[in-house]
Amino acid sequence: MKLESIRREYTRAELSKKNADKHPMHLFQRWMKEVLNLNKIDATSMSIVTNGADGFPDSRIVLLKSYNNEGFVFFTNYNSQKGQAIAENPKVSLHFFWPELERQVRISGIAEKTSIEESEAYFHSRPFESQVAAAVSEQSAEVPSRVYLEEKFDALKKELNGTNPECPKNWGGYLVRPVKFEFWQGRENRLHDRIVYELKDEDWIIKRLAP
Ligand SMILES: Cc1cc2nc3c(=O)[nH]c(=O)nc-3n(C[C@H](O)[C@H](O)[C@H](O)COP(=O)(O)O)c2cc1C
Repeated sequence: MKLESIRREYTRAELSKKNADKHPMHLFQRWMKEVLNLNKIDATSMSIVTNGADGFPDSRIVLLKSYNNEGFVFFTNYNSQKGQAIAENPKVSLHFFWPELERQVRISGIAEKTSIEESEAYFHSRPFESQVAAAVSEQSAEVPSRVYLEEKFDALKKELNGTNPECPKNWGGYLVRPVKFEFWQGRENRLHDRIVYELKDEDWIIKRLAP
């Protein structure tokens, strides 16, 4: 099958400056609610792009765990590649794609660590096995084999004897404080809607971009 023959029209909805909320988080909340109502798997997954020390941008999926007017929170290992990149340069970009709604949202923002209390509370809300896995995984470090990981996992599980592990010091959340959003709504004939919000002196300036 030729990939170039795969195409579809985008006709579900429209987005204009007039029907866009004054605050981008309100529009984000509306779109998030709509996608959650569809009960699609991984609707809260997002790409996070960091700037690597080698000059290459680096992208991977994480799960959005909460958001409010301050920003977007996800959890990870602070020593991972993304953690090291954020320590060097906290400017990141987040990206959601919801094909069922013909929508994408791009966000630029500044990442900062969440409080230890917030990280610990979320860590201990996870299933026991996920806590153990996070405690034994030096995320992004090279490991000799799958067996090595499984042995570490089994050893800690045995040692804990049913009690929860401590939240590792190098594990926790990041809050990404947004400075820019782009909401994309697919439209007929590729004349898509793109509404951008940019933070200027604590006000959100709204503009439309050509598709
Ligand atoms: C659906 C999905 C959800 C994921 N959620 C997370 C997450 O919330 N936190 C995380 O650290 N990694 C998550 N990952 C794994 C990351 O994509 C990535 O492999 C890992 O964080 C290591 O990235 P790094 O080496 O660039 O730091 C997820 C992957 C997928 C596909």
